[in-house]
Amino acid sequence: MLLTVRHLFDRRVLFFGGKGGVGKTTCAAAVALAAARAGKRVLLVSTDPAHSTSDIFERPFAREECEVLPSLFGLEVDAEFEARRYLDEVQRRILAMFNPDIVREAMRQIDLVAGMPGLADVALFDRMSDLVLDRANAYDLTIFDTAPTGHTLRLLHMPEAMGAWVQALSDRRRQALDASVTSASNAAVGQGFSPADKDPILQSLTRRRAKLASVRDVLTRNETTAFVLVLMPERLPIEESARALHDLDHAHLHVSGLVVNRVLPDDLSGEYYEARKAQERVYLEEIDRRFRAVRRVRVPQLESDVHGVPALERVARYLVGE
Ligand SMILES: Nc1ncnc2c1ncn2[C@@H]1O[C@H](COP(=O)(O)OP(=O)(O)OP(=O)(O)O)[C@@H](O)[C@H]1O
Ligand SMILES: [Mg+2]
Repeated sequence: MLLTVRHLFDRRVLFFGGKGGVGKTTCAAAVALAAARAGKRVLLVSTDPAHSTSDIFERPFAREECEVLPSLFGLEVDAEFEARRYLDEVQRRILAMFNPDIVREAMRQIDLVAGMPGLADVALFDRMSDLVLDRANAYDLTIFDTAPTGHTLRLLHMPEAMGAWVQALSDRRRQALDASVTSASNAAVGQGFSPADKDPILQSLTRRRAKLASVRDVLTRNETTAFVLVLMPERLPIEESARALHDLDHAHLHVSGLVVNRVLPDDLSGEYYEARKAQERVYLEEIDRRFRAVRRVRVPQLESDVHGVPALERVARYLVGE
């Protein structure tokens, strides 16, 4: 068992995940700060709709990248804004591809889609993809502070889910094109149908598939990307982390660090404290047993909430050393 997770500094993309309230934001922020101090150019991205990176740094973050401390850049993804931006982009492409009648119908559909559950996730994933594929090159390290486990896992499964969907759409489109070619009298000819290799819809679907494949590629590459699970030595976070570890593994995403946060300090006494400590010891042993394949690090429960740079520096010392 390693005492720190400093090895994560060598990656390009880190994800901090875990159950609600276990300390994901605290640990992601502390590692980001320490990496920036160690000379890396770091981007800390909050994808949790309930952002708290601004609070913890006591500095404003925005929906676009901005430098919050020397060498440390922050970004709080604004889900609503991203969903609008995503739809505007779809709209722009449709305008470029089709005649006005089709466009008018499509716009009606888009207004319906705007309120569709799941759209925010698709837009969020699209934004994350751009960060991972393009913007990450501008930084040594990009760190994602994510929403609680379930939501993040759903997002990370997006390449597979959307890949299958985009594939199905492509197949349908190809069939339609074939049909319009084989039947010369087909009224569709001349109404936006063109040979498959020049068809703008197929081209757009093919680009989308390629982008999903690239994201998957980066996320599953062990040298590039690592997932860090944060938990507390308690029953529910342990179970949730075990499930997350299994799911991430299944999706070929590598968990390269486990932060056991809020471990009670050793130097206290009293009946209440000793009872809690005894229970905690059982959970700590269980964690060491069930997560023995993952590098683990322990962060003690501090005497107060973590906010502000000095407190983050303290947490960082436990996570990555001096
Ligand atoms: N080691 C620690 N000692 C004391 N307080 C801590 C410690 N780690 C985290 N906290 C406090 O616990 C609370 C939750 O932490 P944090 O916001 O980092 O969790 P989270 O997993 O990001 O939560 P959410 O799921 O809501 O995003 C915060 O008030 C934070 O200051
Ligand atoms: Mg958080």
